[in-house]
Amino acid sequence: MRPTPSLTRNITCVGAGVIGGGWVAHFLARGYDVTAWDPAPDAEQRLRRLVDAAWPALTQLGPAEGASRDRLTVAPTLEEACAQAHFVQESAPEKLDLKRDLLARIDAATPADVVVASSTSGYPMTDMQTEAANPGRLLVGHPFNPPYLIPLVEVVGGEKTDDDAVAWASEFYDVAGKSVITMDRELPGFIANRLQEALWREALHMVANGEATVKEIDDSITEGPGLRWAFMGPCLTFALAGGEGGMAHMLDHFGPSLKSPWTRLEAPELDRKLYDGMVQGCEEAADGRTIAELVAERDQGVIDVLRATGRLPRGRNGETA
Ligand SMILES: NC(=O)c1ccc[n+]([C@@H]2O[C@H](COP(=O)([O-])OP(=O)(O)OC[C@H]3O[C@@H](n4cnc5c(N)ncnc54)[C@H](O)[C@@H]3O)[C@@H](O)[C@H]2O)c1
Repeated sequence: MRPTPSLTRNITCVGAGVIGGGWVAHFLARGYDVTAWDPAPDAEQRLRRLVDAAWPALTQLGPAEGASRDRLTVAPTLEEACAQAHFVQESAPEKLDLKRDLLARIDAATPADVVVASSTSGYPMTDMQTEAANPGRLLVGHPFNPPYLIPLVEVVGGEKTDDDAVAWASEFYDVAGKSVITMDRELPGFIANRLQEALWREALHMVANGEATVKEIDDSITEGPGLRWAFMGPCLTFALAGGEGGMAHMLDHFGPSLKSPWTRLEAPELDRKLYDGMVQGCEEAADGRTIAELVAERDQGVIDVLRATGRLPRGRNGETA
C-alpha cells in the first residue's frame, strides 16, 4: 500500500554509487530507515564510506530527530531490499536497457502502489517503463549532486504514469526536505540540465575554437553571473538589467540582440506571446517585491556569497579575506 507522504518511513535505494549513496545519506539524515541494494561486490564499503564522508556536512545542517547511520541496512538481493519499501529511489547506471529491466524487477518486488522513482539524468520515463507490469507508479525524480546538499528534485511522469503517483512523489520529496519542481510534460534533460547543457555546449565551442580558455570560462561564471544565480534565477536577474522598467524594458532594450551571434544556440522569435510571458512570469516570480526591493536583495545576496566564499575585497566591512 502507498502510505501518506508524511507517514512514509522505509526508503529503498537501488544502486548505491555517487547519486544512490547521496540519496541514502540524505534520507538517513532526515530520519528515515533506509535499505540499499547494489550488485557490485564492494558496494557496501563504498556506500558506508560515502555516508561517513557526508555526515559532518549533514551534522552541520542539523539532522532530523532520531537520524542515525545505524538505520542503514544493505540487503543481499534486490527482492529483499524492496519487500518492505514505502518508496523506492533507483540510481543505477545511465543505460536504457539496464534501467528498463531493473525498473521491471523493482516493480515486481515492491508492494503494490508504492511509488518508484528513477534518478535518470535524461531518459524520459516513457522510454524506461516499457517492461514493467505496473508502469503507473514509475516516475522520474531527478536530483542534483550531491543529493544530500542540493535541494532540487525534478519530478515528471511518463505516458503511462498515473497523475496521483506524480502528486504523491512531489509531496513526499517536499516532506523529505527537497525543493520540488513538478513538470507537467516530459522534456529531454528536464529543466535544469537543459540550462546547464546550453552553457556547457557553448563553453566547449569556445574552447574548441580557441575563443576562450577553460580558466577564462570558469572565471567568467564564478566572478560574474554565477554569484547572482545562487539566490536569483536568470530571468529575475535579467529583469533587474531593465532598471525600473524591469523585464519589459530589458526586452525592449536587448530584444534586438537576439538576432546577434552571441551564442551558437538559435534564439526563438521574440513575439508578443513570448514578450508578455516573460514580463508576466517575472512579475509572478517577484511575488509582490518592487524592483528596488529586488535590487537590494540581489546586492545583499552577492555580498553574502562573496563573504561566505572568502572573496570580499580586503578591508571591506572589516573583512580580511
Ligand atoms: N552523477 C551525477 O551528477 C548525476 C546527477 C543526477 C542524476 N544522475 C543519475 O543517477 C544515476 C546513477 O548515476 P551515478 O552518477 O550515481 O553512477 P555511479 O556509477 O556512481 O553509480 C551507479 C551504481 O549502480 C550500481 N549498479 C550497476 N548495475 C546495477 C544494477 N543492475 N542495479 C542496481 N545498481 C547497479 C553500480 O555498482 C554503482 O554503484 C544515473 O541514472 C545518472 O544519470 C547522476
